[in-house]
Amino acid sequence: MTEPLSIADMRLLVTGGAGFIGANFCHYWKQRYPQSTLVVLDALTYAGNRASLKSLEGQEGFLFVAGDINDYALVERLLAEHRLNTIVHFAAESHVDRSIHDPDAFLRTNILGTHTLLQAARKQWLDGPEGRIPHRFHHISTDEVYGTLRPQDPAFREDTPYAPNSPYAASKAASDHLVRAYQHTYGLATTTSNCSNNYGPYHFPEKLIPLVILNILHGRPLPIYGDGQQIRDWLFVEDHCQGIARILEKGREGESYNIGGHNEWANLDIVRLICRLLDQAFAEDAELRQRYPQMPACHGQAAESLISYVKDRPGHDRRYAIDAHKISAELGYQPQHRFEEGIRKTIDWYLQRSDWWQPLLGEQYAAWLEKQYVG
Ligand code: NAD
Ligand code: TYD
Repeated sequence: MTEPLSIADMRLLVTGGAGFIGANFCHYWKQRYPQSTLVVLDALTYAGNRASLKSLEGQEGFLFVAGDINDYALVERLLAEHRLNTIVHFAAESHVDRSIHDPDAFLRTNILGTHTLLQAARKQWLDGPEGRIPHRFHHISTDEVYGTLRPQDPAFREDTPYAPNSPYAASKAASDHLVRAYQHTYGLATTTSNCSNNYGPYHFPEKLIPLVILNILHGRPLPIYGDGQQIRDWLFVEDHCQGIARILEKGREGESYNIGGHNEWANLDIVRLICRLLDQAFAEDAELRQRYPQMPACHGQAAESLISYVKDRPGHDRRYAIDAHKISAELGYQPQHRFEEGIRKTIDWYLQRSDWWQPLLGEQYAAWLEKQYVG
């Protein structure tokens, strides 16, 4: 074990920083630690969006590099050239439905890509010219590695056995095991966090919450898989970032921490809540009615009229719930946003930031939606 790095000494490589949570993390970190060095490495897949980092580009200590985490030479060069001693690893293929259609990319990025980062970190931080130097490898994972819960089951704990059900979850589970093995075998200073479903700004509109918001604005169907009674434990993305920051600051080497919001909702209830909040917003705001004439409110209808039951996701996990007692007790973590507040903030953000999402709704996206929700 090495002395833990203080936050002031951390020089970060953030992988996947142009994605949803990675971008939120970059904003969170630079707001709190403006002097820090932060290099983003992101392959800019369909889910990566440089526009999410626009206000950070050009700031002192911030650098964006377009590249693949599977590119060992690039990762090694970035670590050496910028004397980076901390990796915060978000980069992944992250959408369960895509993993069902095309698992290959998930294995490549989530498993092999994570391994490439671990190899480069080991070479640079353990076996470099100065020998072992203070460092941290923080791996961002998901609660989906634990599988599914029945209604009466207790929430996932860090010692809940892994039982991944989708190719996405299996690939994340494999990456968690690799991180663990590099700590155990080589002594790499790793930590892992397993978080529940996030929501908030910069969320790509293939995931439930942004998809529902944008489909309501455009008068498109709201696809509910199966009976809509599947339960997720939703956390505002900034609260996830806070949890990661606490682990970086005080988390114990080799440990994993669950992060969650004690906020279980059935999908159908979330969709209904968003419908209600948008109906209210449109009732109060004539300008919104002008901007989005396809929204049902503009034709005297409730947004709920768009709800459309579609074929269930194969192998759909019924319930996720996180027991976040360990991170609360050890690191003083508490989520700061109540759900109603977080979801209002999220809706407002999407209403204000059409400049961010409009370019994403191209032909490719429309074709993908059609493919998903037929039937
Ligand atoms: P995202 O899909 O929005 O973003 C992923 C980012 O990784 C994109 O910017 C993409 O361009 C980049 N990327 C993909 N492949 C890459 C590669 N080979 N090399 C470099 N960059 C690559 O994902 P997200 O929702 O922000 O999730 C981030 C992390 O958090 C993932 O590891 C995910 O498993 C985990 N997680 C997500 C959630 C959630 O609710 N979204 C919950 C728990 C954990
Ligand atoms: P999603 O946002 O894809 O996250 P995850 O699968 O990682 O939990 O989906 C959240 C829940 O919403 C999940 O139970 C699947 C469901 N869902 C729908 O019912 N309709 C949709 O169009 C989408 C994208 C998801």
